[in-house]
Amino acid sequence: MRGLLITFEGGEGCGKSTQIHRLAERLKREGATVQQTREPGGTELGEAIRDLLQHNRAGHGMCAESELLLFAASRAQIVRERILPALERGEVVLCDRFLDSTSVYQGVARAIDPIEVAAINQFATAGLLPDLTLLIDLDPEVGLQRAREDRAAPLDRMEQEALAFHQEVRRGYLELAAIDQERIHVLDGIQDVDSLEDEIWKAVESRLS
Ligand code: TMP
Repeated sequence: MRGLLITFEGGEGCGKSTQIHRLAERLKREGATVQQTREPGGTELGEAIRDLLQHNRAGHGMCAESELLLFAASRAQIVRERILPALERGEVVLCDRFLDSTSVYQGVARAIDPIEVAAINQFATAGLLPDLTLLIDLDPEVGLQRAREDRAAPLDRMEQEALAFHQEVRRGYLELAAIDQERIHVLDGIQDVDSLEDEIWKAVESRLS
């Protein structure tokens, strides 16, 4: 039996990490074998790429095209090293961000030609699409404030972008969700964590059966 790939998407500070953790625990209680991972990252190579993309000085001043290819390289690795094998074993894979992040951050907010972004996404994923994508929608002003409060470390390279960049990200996500309503489930990120968890569970439960 093929497993299930569930991805989480949303802007900075939308609460993805908390919800992924809660969903993983709930799925395990239901008897599922769960793999929890993130992008960029999730493999040794991917985590090194994450450092380049977020904090390492070598990554400062990278052009948008290099940025796109680094996200794609991390994705190509995690798909082949972790996600496809787990799906073949019939497991549930929860991934914090996946190809929609690239479509929106690089294809919309960085304004790289969306056709080229789609081709690179297709190459990196070998055509793999999530069974379900949970998009936690939140006003970026609220999200960035949360990110600042929750974090002892300084904001990373993307978080430091102007508010207008993050507003483009939000707009891009909502446009994507309107096009692919079957796969992308939009959740209101302003609600409390327990209500959000329940709403997520309802969406996931319907795909499990
Ligand atoms: P996060 O997973 O901690 O939210 O950080 C990842 C950052 O990288 C976040 O700002 C979104 C950004 N990102 C892209 O710009 N493109 C991508 O393809 C991915 C996976 C993430």
